[in-house]
Amino acid sequence: MNYEGRWKAVKVEVAEGIAWIKFNRPEKRNAMNPTLNREMIEVLEAVELDAEAQVVVLTGEGDAWTAGMDLKEYFREVDAGPEILQEKIRRDASRWQWQLLRMYSKPTIAMVNGWCFGGGFSPLVACDLAIAADEAVFGLSEINWGIPPGNLVSKAMADTVGHRRALHYIMTGDTFTGPQAAEMGLVNKSVPRAQLREETVALAAKLLNKNPVVLRNAKIGFKRSRELTWEQNEDYLYAKLDQAQLRDPEHGREQGLKQFLDDKSIKPGLQAYKR
Ligand code: COA
Repeated sequence: MNYEGRWKAVKVEVAEGIAWIKFNRPEKRNAMNPTLNREMIEVLEAVELDAEAQVVVLTGEGDAWTAGMDLKEYFREVDAGPEILQEKIRRDASRWQWQLLRMYSKPTIAMVNGWCFGGGFSPLVACDLAIAADEAVFGLSEINWGIPPGNLVSKAMADTVGHRRALHYIMTGDTFTGPQAAEMGLVNKSVPRAQLREETVALAAKLLNKNPVVLRNAKIGFKRSRELTWEQNEDYLYAKLDQAQLRDPEHGREQGLKQFLDDKSIKPGLQAYKR
């Protein structure tokens, strides 16, 4: 699918199975304004149905991933409008930043190329995996301009980094870099910016090699399992396992078992079955 020129604040290119979704307001450090939020809902819905797009990479144009919510267009201008407008503006942001993205039906990788502030932490953590540039700078800057973190920002921190560190960054607004983000588990890995794209493509290639229906059920199963009891989990995760088998057009389980047990052509401990 050719998406050229379809959106203003977001750019989308699909190549070799990867949908590169780019925040495209580099002159505003990719701050998320209401236009970008509305467009991102459309983008995620379009890419989900695009059979060529099998893995999604979320990144930013220029030297920012995103400088967070747009302080002028998302806050000041909305404050000046009718009170009810706040509801719509917030709903659009939440819709894509975590509701759609967190349980997205395709694997998602945040490729954090630069600045990542405040509201950016919601989509960052909603992505399944994240790779940062060593040069990237992260911060919960809300405290520096007079609000506590909103939307899912604090929840995103609570789900990834430990209690003390989360509160430190929430309460001080101190910044940290890609390697620190990796060390604290906010991203999977940090590499020099010059290698960021190559590392991301290599990670995407691993995912492209796996059965997409099974991947979806595995990631959603894991994310939901954090909210369920052990008893509920047993039932739910077996239901996901059964659903994966039922929905899987390539019958991956049969192929995997056959290639290991009968053909002896793979060792699943070391590699995926051949699709
Ligand atoms: N909302 C609205 N506009 C923003 C923005 C934001 N979150 N972040 C950057 N911009 C705008 C600036 O106002 C400036 O606009 P202008 O050219 O019309 O004056 C432009 O983007 C470039 O920003 P600038 O501050 O000059 O870039 P920089 O590279 O020197 O610094 C940052 C980058 C990210 C450190 C700095 O822009 C910043 O602190 N942004 C705010 C981060 C933040 O608090 N986010 C809110 C989280 S909820």
